[in-house]
Amino acid sequence: MCGIVGYIGTQPAASEILLAGLQKLEYRGYDSAGIATISEGELHCIRAKGKLHNLQEKVASWNRPASLGIGHTRWATHGKPEEYNAHPHRDTSERLAVVQNGIIENYRELREQLRHHGHTFRSDTDTEVIPHLIADGLPRIQAEGLQAHHPSPLLEAVRQAVCQLQGAFAIAVISADFPDELIVARQQAPLVLGFGQGEFFCASDTPALIPYTRAILPLDNGEIARLTPTGVEVFSFEGNRVRKTPRTLNWNPVMVEKQGFKHFMLKEIYEQPGVVRTCLEQYLNGDWQPGMADSPIHLGLPTDFYNNLEQVQIVACGTSWHAGLVGKYLLEQVAGLPTTVNYASEFRYAPTPLRPNTLTIGVTQSGETADTLAALEMEGTRHSEGAPPPRLLGITNRPESSLSRLVPQIIDTHAGIEIGVAATKTFVAQLVAFYLLALDLAYTRQTLTPEQLHTLIEGLRQLPAELELILESQERYVETLAHDFVDTQDFIFLGRGINFPIALEGALKLKEISYIHAEGYPAGEMKHGPIALLDAKVPVVAIAMPGTVFEKVLSNAQEAKARDALLIGVTPMDEQEAAETFDALLPVPHVDELLSPLLTVVPLQLLAYHIAAHRGLDVDQPRNLAKSVTVE
Ligand code: AGP
Repeated sequence: MCGIVGYIGTQPAASEILLAGLQKLEYRGYDSAGIATISEGELHCIRAKGKLHNLQEKVASWNRPASLGIGHTRWATHGKPEEYNAHPHRDTSERLAVVQNGIIENYRELREQLRHHGHTFRSDTDTEVIPHLIADGLPRIQAEGLQAHHPSPLLEAVRQAVCQLQGAFAIAVISADFPDELIVARQQAPLVLGFGQGEFFCASDTPALIPYTRAILPLDNGEIARLTPTGVEVFSFEGNRVRKTPRTLNWNPVMVEKQGFKHFMLKEIYEQPGVVRTCLEQYLNGDWQPGMADSPIHLGLPTDFYNNLEQVQIVACGTSWHAGLVGKYLLEQVAGLPTTVNYASEFRYAPTPLRPNTLTIGVTQSGETADTLAALEMEGTRHSEGAPPPRLLGITNRPESSLSRLVPQIIDTHAGIEIGVAATKTFVAQLVAFYLLALDLAYTRQTLTPEQLHTLIEGLRQLPAELELILESQERYVETLAHDFVDTQDFIFLGRGINFPIALEGALKLKEISYIHAEGYPAGEMKHGPIALLDAKVPVVAIAMPGTVFEKVLSNAQEAKARDALLIGVTPMDEQEAAETFDALLPVPHVDELLSPLLTVVPLQLLAYHIAAHRGLDVDQPRNLAKSVTVE
């Protein structure tokens, strides 16, 4: 939520660098945007309501050369998405500016105190207290004079201010009275520093940095940094110097371009065969045969990681929670481990009672979701006396994110960064991670025979080609089919067993980007209520893959058909009975039911994408959403 960016250096191009950075961060929020720069001893602030292009137009007609500045793209929390609430926010003198990502929970008390000190507020935001708080402390700190452990009064004023803030935040601060300093701080919201040649950057996420540098340094919670044209110093909120070394990001700037696709979402749907291939190559032992001594899967976990394991609990949000539901099916049915899947936002305030020998898995594509991180942090500290320490594992495509600094073990899904707000390739990659984990556990716990394991692994290896086949053979057809639903108001998605979470995911994709009301339901539950919704205006999409519940799903689909619903089936190409049941088919290759979610989700992603595209909607940046949800 919200993207912040900052630049200090020798190039007089701060505005261009900030705007380019904000463009890369716009996926984090797009309610308003703004920049503040310092030139000729003055602070200049330009802000605009709505998407970044509104700000770009304003800046184009009023640009001043500057070598220091900060920028922000907003996802509104406190205060409507209006220009007066847009960041940067300034102090009363309008010489100091702040951008923030997060929520300041005690802003009301602080605002009252500051009003009594004569500060004037101009917005409805929580953030505005920060510039006033810093400005409030500065004269006293300057009067006290510099002490040895205060490299600069501005740094000290920001440090004292952040110590008074409650909540989760990342901030960047500049002042016209300190034209060679950019101060940044982090508490429970992401912030990365970038190291260039005589220039330094900060940003909420790395895509804003990679056009300039791949030398990056993520700040940790409770850290504050002072960036000058000559270097970077990092301190704790207590004022102690922290020694940290930048690391090199193994990224290519092309990864964050559309590469000829109309939208990032479509590009990311097409990346899925490659993502699955890469993830399998990374973790599967290519030469493994039944009878060999080692596991066919090498996830890089400690050798005793699975010892005495009795149950698993998964915490996640949104699409990652759906991946967790598929994970539960696999861990229970394949590896024999009782598993719960929890919304992280619920779990953090009502956790399951502690049980020994539990593995907690956090699933998150961004690695920054506040609720998921908070739930994991809580599990890291919840510990009953005499019991072994908690076992935590993260599943993510962003191994450089905050998640990896919170949990000791990570499965990197190798999906790379995802820009489209609607998750596609990262979901499929999370599923692959769960297949590998469940099969590795099945090997260790001997819940599958080596032959069964071999068959499933061979099935996994076929998936990239099968995904390519779906994309090649289906996209045009789905695009045409989607025309029929441009004016539809409600959709129902049905699935059972391992494909029930895919019904939920298909409904979520459609809701997110097309704004059509959609519900995912376990097919067998329809008759207990939701069937009352059905008539000729409500299409029903049913996932019917041969296996344990194939006939049941077809019967449930017939029940919907009898209520005049138009039936769309995600089903194998050669299934005669299914072909006769459904009015329209979204065919997928014939695969083992257990592996089928990796295929059945793709036609649903395409359907959601093309309906939204036909409706002329902003597929990559749907209204009210943000890619990375770093607030509660
Ligand atoms: C997915 O399409 C959504 N944008 C959203 O539900 C997302 O999955 C959720 O916010 C969790 O994000 P995370 O995976 O980054 O933790």
